Amino acid sequence: RETKDQFIIDAGQKHFGTTVCKSCGMIYTASNPEDEMQHAQHHHRFLEGIKYTGWKKERIVAEFWDGKIVLVLPHDPSYAIRKVEDVQELVDCELGFQHVVPKCPNKVKTFLFISDEKRVVGCLIAEPIKQAFRVLSEPADPESSSSRECHRAWQCSDVPEPAVCGISRIWVFRLKRRKRIARRLVDTVRNCFMFGCFLSTDEIAFSDPTPDGKLFATKYCNT
Ligand code: ACO
Ligand code: ZN
Repeated sequence: RETKDQFIIDAGQKHFGTTVCKSCGMIYTASNPEDEMQHAQHHHRFLEGIKYTGWKKERIVAEFWDGKIVLVLPHDPSYAIRKVEDVQELVDCELGFQHVVPKCPNKVKTFLFISDEKRVVGCLIAEPIKQAFRVLSEPADPESSSSRECHRAWQCSDVPEPAVCGISRIWVFRLKRRKRIARRLVDTVRNCFMFGCFLSTDEIAFSDPTPDGKLFATKYCNT
């Protein structure tokens, strides 16, 4: 993933004549054969991964003018599980996360935001938790901000607070960001995670947030 991320960033900064693919979101130089080949590969894999053909049995938990949210549970048919795995692989690859095996795989709830173009453009993975540690502040050491890895070293309280729902992944397709898709996913989780109650923002926790994730979470929890 390191190479792919780096590639995208470099291509955007150093080269002229770069193109943003309107389907897969990759930034590449169309005149460069190597770039073109990498794009062709990414394009195909990405679009296959997020293609959503519609399922006979789908659990629609929210509907909007521009899409819907579908909930997938661990014992759902294999076509649904396979789609979740494909999307999770793309997300983990983009985030550079190792695939983490959840503590209670039977209790994981995956929410997919399906666009009206029949693509999975958002994904949220939630699991039950008992406690969380509140993020206190950003690291004080200014030098640490130069390294990508250190962006995740937020200081956390060492006093655990009770929580109910852990959000282990939240992701929105690059070209669909800032359209309140993440917000609608979290709203839906708060509404559906525990039957009969709407979780407060204190009862949900984001695990190991990225810089994007932290900006979103801070905004979301304060509004
Ligand atoms: N920078 C600043 N503010 C932001 C950002 C950002 N990158 N993203 C969201 N916000 C704030 C804004 O205030 C926004 O409201 P506004 O657009 O009206 O100003 C508000 O949060 C709501 O944002 P949404 O539109 O609902 O968020 P979006 O659908 O764009 O998704 C997300 C946010 C999921 C973080 C997206 O940027 C993404 O997928 N990033 C890459 C993957 C990633 O880093 N995910 C988080 C990993 S951490 C974890 O999984 C626990
Ligand atoms: Zn493409």
